[in-house]
Amino acid sequence: MEVRPAARIQGDIAMPGDKSISHRLAMIGSIADGTTTIYNFAASADSHSTLSCLLQLGVGFQETGSTVIIQGRGLGSYRPPAAELDAGNSGTTVRLMSGILAGTPIDATFVGDESLSRRPMKRIIEPLRIFGAALEARNDNFLPLTVHGGALKAIDYTLPVASAQVKSAILLAGLHARGRTRVVEPAPTRNHTEIALRQFGADVETDGGVIEIEGGRRLTGQGVTVPGDVSSAAFFVAAALGLSGSRLRIRGVGLNPTRTGFINLLEDMGARIAIEGLADDGGEPAGNLLIEGSELAGGEIRGSWIPNVIDEIPVLAVLGTRTRSGIRIRDAAELRTKESDRIQAVVENLQRLGVQVEAFDDGLFVPGGQSIHGGIVDSRGDHRIAMAFAVAGLFATGPVTIEGAPCVDVSYPDFFKVLSQCVRSCE
Ligand code: S3P
Repeated sequence: MEVRPAARIQGDIAMPGDKSISHRLAMIGSIADGTTTIYNFAASADSHSTLSCLLQLGVGFQETGSTVIIQGRGLGSYRPPAAELDAGNSGTTVRLMSGILAGTPIDATFVGDESLSRRPMKRIIEPLRIFGAALEARNDNFLPLTVHGGALKAIDYTLPVASAQVKSAILLAGLHARGRTRVVEPAPTRNHTEIALRQFGADVETDGGVIEIEGGRRLTGQGVTVPGDVSSAAFFVAAALGLSGSRLRIRGVGLNPTRTGFINLLEDMGARIAIEGLADDGGEPAGNLLIEGSELAGGEIRGSWIPNVIDEIPVLAVLGTRTRSGIRIRDAAELRTKESDRIQAVVENLQRLGVQVEAFDDGLFVPGGQSIHGGIVDSRGDHRIAMAFAVAGLFATGPVTIEGAPCVDVSYPDFFKVLSQCVRSCE
């Protein structure tokens, strides 16, 4: 895929449904009593990995356009799968569903693609064993991962890493356990699981960084609409901010404060981003974003901001070239455990485009005021790297070729189509 330099971004667009929220609604709907209808379900390969694993576990569903209707089986009632569950590229599928499977009296084995097979699973294996489940994995950390589910007893657990996926696995196992489970997070992470569980009738309480769930509560199927994916919107926000004269409206974007850190940080750096029609129907907040090309100061992002912006860091690094003082990221070693080692992927690809960048174990520094040359970059099969470097192509002085660009299907199959609709070219 070749992306050419752009003059500015202009348009009125919408994002597909949020991937994180779609996974959770499908899984929680599958263990609720009755039918769940999910509107605007994510058009992503990852959320379809969740659906195909659920199908193998005996969950019936119907998909019409972006509406998915799930026939819930109730708590602890999955059917034993006839074969391995293929989670594809999706860490969320394996980690969250393992929490449910730990409390379900069947055996199930997850496999995945090459990238997912390199990602750490010990972080969920350890707490799920404390609940009383038996789990086996290659080197006790990697796929294939087998979960032997059964009766669980509530736990009190402090997360060693700030991870929404691990927190969610614990809450979902806690729902199946006897007693009240308590999980403490070192920094706030996305709270979509807590919101969805409450919507379906679970007893979930949050007090600062402490989340509690009462085991054994039965859930009731719901009708729910997924807001647009704010992490997909981030690529368009960055593109519009970095090209002066841009004016872009993105409608119906999920604006949960545990996901909008990149908007707040960019506003602090001078970004002109307005929010219109913010509404919250008792679930996930959503609204329109209005973005204008802006002069950005740059700055440092670290500490408890990191989990909030974790998926936006590759594109923030690209945007760093367009700031006055650059963008510095620290405390983000977790980036090395994502779909690719995102620190290495960003650094190497920026260097291929003639950009100065400094790498740290836990982050990077992109000095400001740099021009980006044309060239060839490697997505490493990582959707967010492919999309971040598409934005680099818009900012560049010559065409940027992205190798392995079809991996954008993992979160946003129409990404290049929507991008070409709002790019105003230089020619
Ligand atoms: C996700 C949580 C984050 C994020 C991932 C999706 C989720 O991972 O990077 O893309 O849906 O819970 P961690 O919680 O492991 O940091």
